[in-house]
Amino acid sequence: MDRLLVTGGSPLSGTVRIQGAKNSALKLMAASLLADGRTVIENVPRIVDCLTMVEVLEHLGASVAWEDGRMIVDTGGVDGHETPYELVRRMRASIVVLGPLLAREGRARVAMPGGCNIGSRKIDLHLRGLEHMGASFEHDHGYLEVTAGDLRGAVISLDYPSVGATENLMMAAVGARGTTVIENAAREPEIQDLAGFLVRMGARIEGAGTPTVEIQGVDRFEPVRHVVIPDRVEAGTWAVAVCATGGDVLLAGARTDHMDLPLSKLAETGAEVTVEGEGIRVRMPERALAVDLVTLPYPGFPTDLQPQMMALLASARGTSIVTENVFEARFMFVDELNRMGADIRTEGHHAVIRGVDRLSSAPVRALDLRAGAAMVIAALTADGVTEVSDMYHVHRGYEGFEEKLASLGARVSAGPARSPAVLG
Ligand code: UD1
Repeated sequence: MDRLLVTGGSPLSGTVRIQGAKNSALKLMAASLLADGRTVIENVPRIVDCLTMVEVLEHLGASVAWEDGRMIVDTGGVDGHETPYELVRRMRASIVVLGPLLAREGRARVAMPGGCNIGSRKIDLHLRGLEHMGASFEHDHGYLEVTAGDLRGAVISLDYPSVGATENLMMAAVGARGTTVIENAAREPEIQDLAGFLVRMGARIEGAGTPTVEIQGVDRFEPVRHVVIPDRVEAGTWAVAVCATGGDVLLAGARTDHMDLPLSKLAETGAEVTVEGEGIRVRMPERALAVDLVTLPYPGFPTDLQPQMMALLASARGTSIVTENVFEARFMFVDELNRMGADIRTEGHHAVIRGVDRLSSAPVRALDLRAGAAMVIAALTADGVTEVSDMYHVHRGYEGFEEKLASLGARVSAGPARSPAVLG
């Protein structure tokens, strides 16, 4: 279903089960390349990005079986070291195989990721860190040829706590000779999940989740069984949707300790947030109040929830200021929200959002994964029927998105087939 028709006005209510974290599962799948044998990863979300990572692993010679959220990656047949452009183009995160491939094979050939809809997204920090560890690079027709005959530990100080660079370097360092120290490392919960997985495989890592991660290289990794942590961005998306619609929903399986700031921001807008059993209940008794927020690396407010919050604040009471510090082009979708009657003005990395009484339905596009979720949230609050096209972006990261919406009482249906474009 590439187009979704959303009839606004129904408060979301009921229970939604939170999927395994996309941004963790993808890295665990890559890390399974370190061991020879069958690694079992439970709670892998059935989303397009994970299917793409399956293709990446298969291209390298692994075989992957995946049923009911349990994935078995068998690395027995891995003999390749290349990740083609076709896959990196579909999903930038494919480049996280660089670290484990270097540790395993001593070489990797990975297509250079280009820009994407939320910014230029360089990989200089990944490459500089690997260079410190003795890797060398050559550019070859859009590919990066990386060799590291003898990967050795090093002290690497990141200019910025990049999530991907921290992960790639951790996965290379676990198999390097000697000790690696990553300073100014990213502290996201997904980094801790990856470290826990690697330690179980036999790696020696201390300090994951803090700005200084210390890794002692080892020679051998065992295949293990691991359960992916819950997806804090999916949980946050549903929480924001509940607040936007004045609903009452239990986020089953969500972890409050991974969502401190988003939950306290939602409480500032007027939401009641309580821990119930093994989940978080979010209830919104009134129209949301405006709040200011600033995106920052974890534990700051996640950039991956910024668009959804903008959709909520678009019809909140008062004026909000949102500052985006992580991705330079993450306000591109604002024009889509303004087409629905939002009053948002952007200046550089700041947005001023004057809450309007109600958004109005319009045909709009999902410009990227999180912006797509934001457009659906906006549609849930609007009068009339909104058509959100290019939903494939949303399917990259949300499992059973339309089904979950419908089960919470949203009025959604597949959009009509588009008539063929008129040529000439
Ligand atoms: C990951 C997440 C993404 C999330 C982001 C920030 C995955 C698959 N994706 O992306 O959902 O929004 O973290 O929380 O886990 N940068 C450089 N040079 C580098 C690396 C990054 O300049 O070598 C810049 C980027 O352009 C960006 C910022 O650092 O402006 C953050 O990027 P990073 O933390 O690396 O995000 P990703 O790992 O790509």
